[in-house]
Amino acid sequence: MQPSDFIWMDGKLVPFADATVHVLSHSLHYGNAVFEGIRAYSTPEGPAILQLQAHVKRLFRSSRVLDMKIPFSESEIEAAILETVRRNGHESCYVRPLVFRGFGPLGVLPKGNPIQISVATWEWNSLHAEGGLDTGVDVGFSSWRRMAAGTHPAMAKASGNYLNSQLVVQEAVRHGYAEGLVLDVDGYLSEGSGENVFLVQDGVVLTPPIGNSILAGITRGMVMELCEELGIEVRQARIPREAVFFSQEMFMTGTAAEITPVRTVDGKPLEEAAPGPITKRLQTEFFARVKGTVPDRGGWLTHVRQASV
Ligand SMILES: Cc1ncc(COP(=O)(O)O)c(C=O)c1O
Repeated sequence: MQPSDFIWMDGKLVPFADATVHVLSHSLHYGNAVFEGIRAYSTPEGPAILQLQAHVKRLFRSSRVLDMKIPFSESEIEAAILETVRRNGHESCYVRPLVFRGFGPLGVLPKGNPIQISVATWEWNSLHAEGGLDTGVDVGFSSWRRMAAGTHPAMAKASGNYLNSQLVVQEAVRHGYAEGLVLDVDGYLSEGSGENVFLVQDGVVLTPPIGNSILAGITRGMVMELCEELGIEVRQARIPREAVFFSQEMFMTGTAAEITPVRTVDGKPLEEAAPGPITKRLQTEFFARVKGTVPDRGGWLTHVRQASV
């Protein structure tokens, strides 16, 4: 990672090297931080943050699940993100807000630890190896399951959930795949380690619903919005593992993954060469929107230089 100039921490910008915490910070021991991953894209009108309000809202909702009261308002955090992108002079970047329990008493029951918040930004391109967006990636089913309902809060973007994600992606890479596909505890398709998944079957787009232990991805929402605009039917459905091989196309969505086509699953190619026609159509629309080359009909972008906060 190329260090940027500043990180916003607890209300002010500090030099990158000074954004440090004590080793006895509570979240470091108990995995109870919550965070977001956001992208700013380069547009003809300068950098623009994609879905700023939606990401900040999800951060606050995730915090609420863990009883962490963020000592700022949502609009103050939106302003902090804009200020950090602006002061670091990025044209495009990744943005990582993090809410955590800091140094204080150390026990499982959090008590008396300050709630801290930081916003870091850095320049970053594709999640998957060069060309993954154009030719698709190879994925495999994981031997790990996604956490069961009533165990970990899958809907919250909580750091502790990423222990499961790390096991999944480490295993996938060890087996030569770019990503792992995870089933829920009942054996239905859930998501990737850091992406939502979609199948295309006979012109209909299918994706698992919230009840299959997924993160309600903001990119997932944008893809569903685009499908509606393009007249493509989308169904949220419980998807058994073998349905993947009844599909012509598959793709994964996420802030980091954007819309990544899947080329093979467990070494077997999908019926259509990646990216299939519907995946390609969605990618084309998505990138035109986020890069500001077509009108921002859904109000997805916050232009960094023009924003009033
Ligand atoms: C587990 C998981 N699922 C899905 C997603 C996709 O979510 P989003 O589109 O909001 O980035 C992510 C990425 O944040 C993730 O970590």
